[in-house]
Amino acid sequence: MEPVLSYYTVQAGANTFASEKIARILEKYIDDTDTVLNTCAGETPLPAATEIRNDIDESAPADHHVDCREIGDKVKQEIDVVLHDPPFSEHQAIQTYGLEADQWPGYAPVHREVHPLLREGGYIIQAGFSAVPIAQKLRDDYERRAIVVANQLGRQDDWVLTIDEKTTESDSERPWSTTASVVPNGGIATDGDFDIKYRAVPSAVSADDIWSAARDRCSGRTLLLDWQGSIDPSEIGVAETIEPYHSDAQLDQYVALENDGSPVPPRKLGDSLPGRQPDAVVVWPHSTASNVTTEYDGHEIGFTRAIKQELDRHFGSGVTVLLIGNTATGMRRQWDYTHTGVTVVDGENPDAAWYISQFQKGQNGLGELAESMRLTPTGWTTAAFESPVDNRHCSAPEAGRWVIDSPRVTLERHPAFYYQCPVCGASGGTECVGRGNNDWASLSYGGVHTRRCEYAESQIEQSEQVHVYDGGNYLGIAEYEATDGISTLSETTLSDSDTIPEEDPNTGTQATLEDVLG
Ligand SMILES: C[S@@+](CC[C@H](N)C(=O)[O-])C[C@H]1O[C@@H](n2cnc3c(N)ncnc32)[C@H](O)[C@@H]1O
Repeated sequence: MEPVLSYYTVQAGANTFASEKIARILEKYIDDTDTVLNTCAGETPLPAATEIRNDIDESAPADHHVDCREIGDKVKQEIDVVLHDPPFSEHQAIQTYGLEADQWPGYAPVHREVHPLLREGGYIIQAGFSAVPIAQKLRDDYERRAIVVANQLGRQDDWVLTIDEKTTESDSERPWSTTASVVPNGGIATDGDFDIKYRAVPSAVSADDIWSAARDRCSGRTLLLDWQGSIDPSEIGVAETIEPYHSDAQLDQYVALENDGSPVPPRKLGDSLPGRQPDAVVVWPHSTASNVTTEYDGHEIGFTRAIKQELDRHFGSGVTVLLIGNTATGMRRQWDYTHTGVTVVDGENPDAAWYISQFQKGQNGLGELAESMRLTPTGWTTAAFESPVDNRHCSAPEAGRWVIDSPRVTLERHPAFYYQCPVCGASGGTECVGRGNNDWASLSYGGVHTRRCEYAESQIEQSEQVHVYDGGNYLGIAEYEATDGISTLSETTLSDSDTIPEEDPNTGTQATLEDVLG
């Protein structure tokens, strides 16, 4: 029987089971009457009638304080569920828990230690950087029931929770693979299909294993950006590659090489991309990229994020983006990507699993009003401001690319007007329809739903300048600042240096900048 696959987004920190989502998963496998042996108990109590807690740390709330590889010396009774949540690596044991390297218990020695205690039909539940298999010699005695991928929503490596049942009817041989369509987060509705593929490969994961999993997910013209340098493009039939910059020493400054061999800074990566839009883009960042920050548009941000943000400026709607790494985190929703699936490639060892995470860029009002007259700080101009989505691709990034006008007067200048409405589905360039849950209050100014406005404003990039008008009266520039994922208006300033444009013939009621944005 294949294991049940599921995908969660969690931010649990060091106390794994303090996460409510993770705790709810445990409850499915732990009965109120069960006796649970918690080998590395840490801080968090479990939902069990009898919990035998052990932790090597004398200050942790536990019944025993021994190395869990010797827990059999202390525990003699039959156990229904073993919970094994150790530090996920030797490095973490030293760095986070202040232990000596040889105190890291790993997984296989603990499986061997608890096996005689666990009843037939009982479970071993464990957490790690990968779906660590049961120790080789015991594998015929266990059947993997569930694999839960827990995406940490950031740069850090993701976690995997596994549930193995002690049974004599096991057939857990490697390699194997399985696929499932799932609803992430245990059934909380998402806006589309999500598939999870899990591949268990023999021994360590190779570049070929990763690439073949990625290739399964791309079709059409594919662009490859491989900072690992591990794939030979001539062998895999991708349409284009750009030469990535490998030097660790200057990783934070350069992302690629020009044809003449000169290094390209992150903000110029787009210039090196091929002119024709690809159907799929595979991005495999440098192995140390997640630990490095870089200067991008005047701000210090994560290196991988700078790559993603720069690439996004140049991708058209509909493109598939595949990101390869030790986390399924990828393109931001705020940039209008939908997370459509992930392939997990997992080796035999407790090393971090590899994730090929798939994102689809939405179709949003591209090209609309390309020829329309627009009011800019220097007066009326043709096509200088296209729809806001197009504006993000304009060739003069230093210019403000957004115009927010008071929608009371000139709805068509509000960015929200160009996005598909998440409430009523009105397409870009058209007014919202219906009464949104029969509630007129949910329509801003009677034209667009409030959520459509909020969504549009969340698309504004970090420190992007937004020119604000009210019925043609130029009010100034608002600075937006991106927090972790959501753009918020941090401060508004009336720019002295900008030329105040001539009055729009369509003049409406005078308002302040705060009125319009507030
Ligand atoms: C990831 S934390 C456990 C968190 C816990 N499950 C929770 O949700 O609060 C790992 C724990 O393992 C303990 N530990 C590390 N090495 C150990 C060993 N060899 N034997 C027993 N406990 C160990 C650490 O002291 C630490 O409390």
